[in-house]
Amino acid sequence: MTLLDLDPDQLLSTTRAVRKRLDLTRPVPDDLIRECVALALQAPSGSNVVTMRFVVVRDEAKRRALGDVYRQVYAGYRASPGYPGNPTGDPERDRVQARVARSADFLGEHMGEAPVLVLGCVEGPNRAIAEASVGNIMPGMWSFMLAARARGLGTAWTAMHRARERDVAEILGIPYDTVAQAVLTPLAFTKGTDFKPAERPAPDEVIHWDTW
Ligand SMILES: Cc1cc2nc3c(=O)[nH]c(=O)nc-3n(C[C@H](O)[C@H](O)[C@H](O)COP(=O)(O)O)c2cc1C
Repeated sequence: MTLLDLDPDQLLSTTRAVRKRLDLTRPVPDDLIRECVALALQAPSGSNVVTMRFVVVRDEAKRRALGDVYRQVYAGYRASPGYPGNPTGDPERDRVQARVARSADFLGEHMGEAPVLVLGCVEGPNRAIAEASVGNIMPGMWSFMLAARARGLGTAWTAMHRARERDVAEILGIPYDTVAQAVLTPLAFTKGTDFKPAERPAPDEVIHWDTW
């Protein structure tokens, strides 16, 4: 395995939501996915009990079925007030958001064509506990994405499939009563490996020193 030449800060600041630059034609070796999961498993878990689960979907028919679900949910999102393509009245913000919207639209259409889809889940003794402990997949999933980026692979955190969680469970044979689904990401080599830090607020806009 060859890692990209990125120091930790570069890795953290250039792991983008990759959509248009996913190489939909190049297969992803299983061993690379195992490496990313091995690193994800180093992330913290409540009570030090590992309940994070990764459903790695390579099967073409299942990917297409998931892509269809995602496309349908995405169509509703596209028509909603939260869609980033809706104008805000701030031209600078609208310019950035229009770019995000075009990128998200692309994934809305092509999710099922990624060579691999990865669904991050949490397993519990019952549905209520699985849902309540969905935080147990979040650090691991982000580690997975960072590990993927270090290996030249792109991911995009998505969650809107959850509106159709039962359908997704059926497609993948996931026991709905004990497994909560949290994050669905495409996984593919990226077209080029040069990604830039995003524009974000200055730290002091979000830090509350000592008191809110
Ligand atoms: C909780 C959460 C849910 C998200 N859901 C979606 C989604 O359903 N579809 C999508 O295309 N991107 C989704 N994203 C990715 C964001 O749109 C993305 O982070 C944003 O566009 C900024 O891009 P960047 O991370 O490359 O800076 C989600 C991100 C988070 C953290």
